Amino acid sequence: MITRSRVFGTGMAVPDHIITNEYLSTIVDTSDEWIRTRTGMKERRQVRPDQAASDLAIPASQQALEEAGLSPQDLDMIIVATISPDTLFPSTACIIQDKIGARQIPAFDISAGCTGAIYAHTLADQLIRTGHSKYILIIGVELLTKITNWSDRSTCVLFGDGAGASVVGPSENGSSGLLGHHIASDGKGASMLYIPAGGSRMPASRETVDKNLHVLFMKGNEIYKTAISTMSESCHILLKQEGLTPQDVDLFVFHQANLRILEAVGKRLRVSPDRVFVNIHKYGNTSTATTMMAVHEAVQEGKIQRGSLVLQVAFGAGLTWGGLLWRW
Ligand code: ACO
Repeated sequence: MITRSRVFGTGMAVPDHIITNEYLSTIVDTSDEWIRTRTGMKERRQVRPDQAASDLAIPASQQALEEAGLSPQDLDMIIVATISPDTLFPSTACIIQDKIGARQIPAFDISAGCTGAIYAHTLADQLIRTGHSKYILIIGVELLTKITNWSDRSTCVLFGDGAGASVVGPSENGSSGLLGHHIASDGKGASMLYIPAGGSRMPASRETVDKNLHVLFMKGNEIYKTAISTMSESCHILLKQEGLTPQDVDLFVFHQANLRILEAVGKRLRVSPDRVFVNIHKYGNTSTATTMMAVHEAVQEGKIQRGSLVLQVAFGAGLTWGGLLWRW
């Protein structure tokens, strides 16, 4: 019997402070109507200035552990997917290892843009299947409002803060758990979505700060089409691997970057909109956290139940993309 990894518990955390479309239209030349019709977003959340990624990741992790019926001491590894860590180093995973009271287990961050959660679950699955680790805490956390250019209307209306967490471990039977995964990248698109300064290419200096180069730049309309084609491709690859069709899937959980992208991928797969999970209107794009928060909410709302076939698919900076096919 193949040991698959399965999710034992999920959690999420978002800040209380809500940024509405109406508020955004007071700081840049935009409108509620433009944002709603072009993106499907109505509001998004923002942390306080003194908060960092781990401050959202910790409550999300504690909720996932509680739901799993496990303590931090039971964990064998912590993987954090983020592009907005507390600091460039050490990893946010190490900060969380200490603060939640886990043992001296391996803890590290991965950077795969909005696809980070998909990469992290793929990695964790291999480690669980080989018996290297039993229980792994995965967190997708993003504080995008901290790296947003608040004077650029084409990006500042899109992003929000949030964290999703899951505890994965070995499935008790061979039929439930992660059935398949697909991850890919294409660095030719690296400059479509990036932060120019703050790394070794262009370290922080007075000039980079004056030129506002520590914020996110995105060629949104170029990424738009690629997002639709790559997410559709991941779905087809994963379903084909298992001899399944889109009609077999109970719930599609796509990266919440734009409602029009979700609708277009659903249309390509010929699935009815009620099988595509949407929470973008409440949280905007929280990058790697979106699919983890969406899975958590779908479980809470009963849209994902034991035995459900779930396809979790993302696309993001890198460029990166990929998906996870779950029998819940
Ligand atoms: N309010 C009003 N007008 C705006 C706004 C705004 N907030 N933003 C842009 N516009 C204007 C533009 O200036 C342009 O005006 P023009 O025609 O006079 O030049 C017009 O609206 C159309 O602009 P587009 O960029 O073509 O708008 P589009 O319909 O493509 O929507 C969006 C932009 C929402 C960014 C869309 O392209 C998108 O969602 N792209 C994909 C984003 C994505 O998936 N990113 C990857 C994941 S994110 C991550 O990894 C962190």
